[in-house]
Amino acid sequence: MSSDNIWTHKGTFLLAAVGSAVGLGNLWRFPYLAGEHGGGAFLLVYVLCVFAVGIPILIAEIMLGRNSRRCPIMGMRFLTRCHRTSRAWETIGWLGGLSALLILSFYSVISGWALHYLGEMLTGSLRDADAAMLADNFANLIASPLKLTLYHTLFLAICAYIVARGVHRGLESALRILMPTLLVILLVVLFYAATSGDMAAASRFMLSFSLSELSLEGWLEAMGQSFFTLSLGMGAIMAYGAYMPSETSLTLTAFAIALIDTLVAVIAGLAIFALVFGAGLAADEGPGLMFVSLPLAFSVMPSGSLVGAIFFVLVLGAAISSAISLIEPVAAYLVERFDLSRVLAVALVSVLAWGLGLATVASFNVWAEASPVHDVFGRSAFAVLELVTHITLPLCGLLVALFAGWSLTQSESMKEMHTRSSWLRLWRFLVRFIAPTGVAFVFLRALPYVQG
Ligand code: PFF
Ligand code: NA
Repeated sequence: MSSDNIWTHKGTFLLAAVGSAVGLGNLWRFPYLAGEHGGGAFLLVYVLCVFAVGIPILIAEIMLGRNSRRCPIMGMRFLTRCHRTSRAWETIGWLGGLSALLILSFYSVISGWALHYLGEMLTGSLRDADAAMLADNFANLIASPLKLTLYHTLFLAICAYIVARGVHRGLESALRILMPTLLVILLVVLFYAATSGDMAAASRFMLSFSLSELSLEGWLEAMGQSFFTLSLGMGAIMAYGAYMPSETSLTLTAFAIALIDTLVAVIAGLAIFALVFGAGLAADEGPGLMFVSLPLAFSVMPSGSLVGAIFFVLVLGAAISSAISLIEPVAAYLVERFDLSRVLAVALVSVLAWGLGLATVASFNVWAEASPVHDVFGRSAFAVLELVTHITLPLCGLLVALFAGWSLTQSESMKEMHTRSSWLRLWRFLVRFIAPTGVAFVFLRALPYVQG
């Protein structure tokens, strides 16, 4: 790998990893999962999963990337050679690449919905719309293969353009503009939600819970979500870690990523529920929360179209900074393995994800027998998301934890973590025992899924 592929500054990895982590998972998925699984109760188990399982695996992924200085597939090949262990560990790279393509294809279609609603907000066409009109608007959107494909294509093209320009001119420059902007918008939306929405009801919903609401289902969803939200098990963090300067602190960075990601999810949840409750709507809408309930809330609030437009810019920016981290590991593989030019590699990956995305598009209309809004969300596109979050991500995360915990020696980990202190021992304990046990737990959820 060429050494010019190192992030320019010590902090750039953090910027890129936060860009990868903060996305639809925080703004769209976390709030609706919290809505479905009892608000505060879900938040509690989610935070536990992030800290006990997510962070140790996050550290492990960065470590493998930085240690090998290669894309995930070639990196694992290299590390198994160095350690004279089985090449079977390369599965980590392949599984990650597969999940990355699947998620990218799906992510891009959903991000396309945000493009649609950005347009609706800008033209003000949803002003004073009622619940039925919003349900119709959404149903019409997903019923149109043409519209969905157009948005999907546009979104993917933007992301591909950024990645094709390279680590410095593409990824870094885009992230430097995107991330601060997104932070400002998030705060604006929070302020607006606090002043125009019902923040008291939102905090009651998100921050209080009764133990009786802690269902097994909620636990398992929380575990899957903690992988998805931290971008684990997809090689994204490993690929970015390969560009991380050796002197940057691994432990601190991993903590910062997890903390920021969790804060954004909580803030987004609070803001969205404040608006939705403020408009007198319910919390348990599922995936339609952001695309049906929230636009409805905006339609009745003062300057709702303007803030709505800003909000969907936030969603899009966050989605772009995540999607580019899905293209990178696969494209880097094509470059390193077959010596392709970066532009060609990115084009191949994007076209592949674009084609796969057509299946997601079709699952909402052409392949759906009947498509009233509520039925639609159980269909195949979401089945792919479930498959990935409940099976391939955790499985890849499990292998990462086992490899980093048991194949890397204590001194190698020490070299990467710059510490011999109790942190290293705590991390090794978590990554060897706790994280694998936690992940094994997720497979309980996967079992009924596999059986049918
Ligand atoms: N972490 C992103 C989110 O929460 O939206 C989704 C994601 C991006 C998952 C990149 C995996 C990944 F590699
Ligand atoms: Na996230």
